[in-house]
Amino acid sequence: MWGGRFAEGPSAIMREINASIPFDKALWREDIAGSRAHVAMLAKQGIVSEADAKAIDEGLQQVAAEYERDGVPEDWDLEDIHMTVESRLTKIVGPAAGRLHTARSRNDQVATDFRMWVRSAMSRAEDGLAALMRALVTRADEHADSVMPGFTHLQTAQPVTLGHHLLAYFEMFERDRARFADARARLDECPLGSAALAGTGFDLDREMTAEALGFSRPTRNSLDAVSDRDFALDYLQAASTCAIHLSRLAEEMILWASQPFGFIKLPDALSTGSSIMPQKKNPDAAELVRGHAGRIIGAMTALSISMKGLPLAYSKDMQDDKPPVFEAAGLLDLCLAAMEGMVGKSTFDTGRMRKAAEAGHATATDLADWLVRQADIPFREAHHITGAAVKLADQKGVALDGLTIEDFHSIDERIGEGVFDVLSVDASVAARTSYGGTAPARVREQVAAARQRLGME
Ligand code: ARG
Repeated sequence: MWGGRFAEGPSAIMREINASIPFDKALWREDIAGSRAHVAMLAKQGIVSEADAKAIDEGLQQVAAEYERDGVPEDWDLEDIHMTVESRLTKIVGPAAGRLHTARSRNDQVATDFRMWVRSAMSRAEDGLAALMRALVTRADEHADSVMPGFTHLQTAQPVTLGHHLLAYFEMFERDRARFADARARLDECPLGSAALAGTGFDLDREMTAEALGFSRPTRNSLDAVSDRDFALDYLQAASTCAIHLSRLAEEMILWASQPFGFIKLPDALSTGSSIMPQKKNPDAAELVRGHAGRIIGAMTALSISMKGLPLAYSKDMQDDKPPVFEAAGLLDLCLAAMEGMVGKSTFDTGRMRKAAEAGHATATDLADWLVRQADIPFREAHHITGAAVKLADQKGVALDGLTIEDFHSIDERIGEGVFDVLSVDASVAARTSYGGTAPARVREQVAAARQRLGME
């Protein structure tokens, strides 16, 4: 394809280090779509004849049909997907195929192909997130008033509702979805027609190719257009943040599924057994989501480091942009689907959750708040009195609402019978009615608002 100035061919090592076809063959659909748009534009501009353009377009459709049926052949001598398609096209169409690459370089070609591929990956992530968010909101609705312990430092802190806890993840994933949508909007410019780096002297209609390939407009600077991989970094950064959220949710489900917690039964279909211990049901899918997050973040780091030292315009280092993106996208798609299944199909043991919430004196803050409100005691003093009540309850081996009124009076005379109204976990969550709080009524409002934002009925 470029042998004119060379006296001898590349060595075996050169061929191997140079070849990107083993991975960039994933771009074949985008590459053929880009070529079809380019040749249609060249014909309209009178740069190639209608007859040649027609032959080339039909040839490209035949190549697409072959790849669809048989897969893309991997010939290292042809380097990459762009050469592979063109070489096959030449066999089908003859010398006229050589006109396709007029006013084009592999530099603007690959930038265009890759943008289109990443654009689809962004849309897939948005769809996967929407499905996961629907599962979360459905489960949150079911469990708007299921009480569980809320933790800080992984120590029982205050009772919360399971619905509230699930909606916390909904918020994270909603931000993630917006990050992908935002990245997709910024990607929405077509590099095709930037040629190698400087633009071209041919009279192109770049608006036409941009529109044909689903972009809103052409890129404005040819040097930037062939050097820019921000769209891939934007994808990987959004994917990394999303993977962090998926991993935190996975970690909680692993913890909740462990016997000492016993809050959740993961679906059999997303668990594995042990080859030696017959009783085991392991949360492998959740663990792999937690593990894959590391690889996705690694992919983001890899591309950032590949790009940070490159002078303008194209350097071959940029060929290494694709493996991390392909790997991260495959992992992210899987992780989103796995978490949707785990959220949607797990069984929550609300009895165990309630017991755990009742066990750790989680309503101590409610007792302190009651002292402030009903007995007009400053909060710091109320905190101290409550601490004494917790100590006494521990000595007697009961929960706070297992103390008698005499017990309370032994601590402070000002505590009256009314205190028992606030010591249950249900009373505690019901009282947390501040906007964004865990009260079942508030959770139901947020469920309704979330369903509306998702367009669920
Ligand atoms: N396979 C190359 C890549 O993915 C295509 C661009 C080649 N351009 C070049 N000037 N060698 O980056």
